[in-house]
Amino acid sequence: MVWYKQLKFDDNPLDSRPNPKLINLEEQEEQLINHILKEEICFINGPTGAGKTSLLMRVKEKLKDHTFIYLDADDLPPDFDLEDELKKQRNFFDFLAFRKYPSKKPVLIIDEFQATDPNLILKARSKWESKESRAIKSIVIAQIDKHLANTSGSFKERLGRRMITLNILDSKGMKDILRMRLNNKRTGLNYADKLTEEAFNLLVKCADNNPRRLLEYTDKIFDFHYTKFKQLNPILKGKDYTISHFVVEDILNDSGILVDEFKKKDLRVKRLPFSEQFDGEEQKVLQFVLEHDNTTSKEISQTLEMSPAKVARLINELKQKEGVVVVGRRGKYKLYEISPGVKRAMIKE
Ligand SMILES: Nc1ncnc2c1ncn2[C@@H]1O[C@H](COP(=O)(O)OP(=O)(O)OP(=O)(O)O)[C@@H](O)[C@H]1O
Ligand SMILES: [Mg+2]
Repeated sequence: MVWYKQLKFDDNPLDSRPNPKLINLEEQEEQLINHILKEEICFINGPTGAGKTSLLMRVKEKLKDHTFIYLDADDLPPDFDLEDELKKQRNFFDFLAFRKYPSKKPVLIIDEFQATDPNLILKARSKWESKESRAIKSIVIAQIDKHLANTSGSFKERLGRRMITLNILDSKGMKDILRMRLNNKRTGLNYADKLTEEAFNLLVKCADNNPRRLLEYTDKIFDFHYTKFKQLNPILKGKDYTISHFVVEDILNDSGILVDEFKKKDLRVKRLPFSEQFDGEEQKVLQFVLEHDNTTSKEISQTLEMSPAKVARLINELKQKEGVVVVGRRGKYKLYEISPGVKRAMIKE
């Protein structure tokens, strides 16, 4: 038996392999789909564990009417040949018509792009670009580093500014991941509720805002409870038992994670430069709030011509990320001001 079977899950809900169920990446997903539909080259970039491979999986599942060639450049056979791969995608009618390449052009995905052989990049580019032998619809590349070391200037030129950045999640996003993963439809219980607020915050801190690590560390917590107590697992008891941060600290320390080091750190979100912490629309709102103290969501919505619902969502995000603070009320409207920390950052940048 394993912990998740005891809690009546079929599979490990905290499995940290790529998984198309994602939190907070709707906008990036939309951008990616848009680039693919427009037959462009684009680049997905973001720290390890931020969901690059997962997002690729998700878009693959969503665009059911497309064909994809997914390459993990870290794991390609030495004799890999793009030409052969393209030919494999031909269907029966392509054969009947003696087509060299499939009539339905596939989307080429190159994950772990930093490891790609420059020759393959050249071939891919020409199969996408050249009018005579155009056989690829769109090229999507993904890697951690923002800097593309193995490409020529001309490839970068074609890529242009089509970079999709997956930022690290704030602690709300991290919590949402656990809530989504630990929700058990069969028992009607959400095992994320077993963690106290402090326990959860400690996990997020130790995971350093890396979703993969969050999943792995939380798995350790649930695994410990099962292996230590078996049938007497306190998590099985109703509401009486919650997992405290003391327990989390002990378990993580025992597996060699330097909890003390992480406890000292501020949450990572605060250390990010302003321009990476907030997306374009959030920055627009911040700029407005910076210039207009004591402003309301209504003013923001009217001046920036955004729907009230959108402003509400943005303001909510900004409150979570401590970009704006509520300083009072005017009638039924809350008054917002920029937070001191972000104000400093904005004026400096
Ligand atoms: N925004 C998110 N919402 C939900 N789960 C996420 C999110 N981001 C990452 N995860 C989860 O974290 C794990 C790691 O994600 P993934 O493998 O896609 O990351 P990656 O960016 O490709 O990392 P690497 O650069 O190391 O390959 C997966 O289990 C994924 O489901
Ligand atoms: Mg990956």
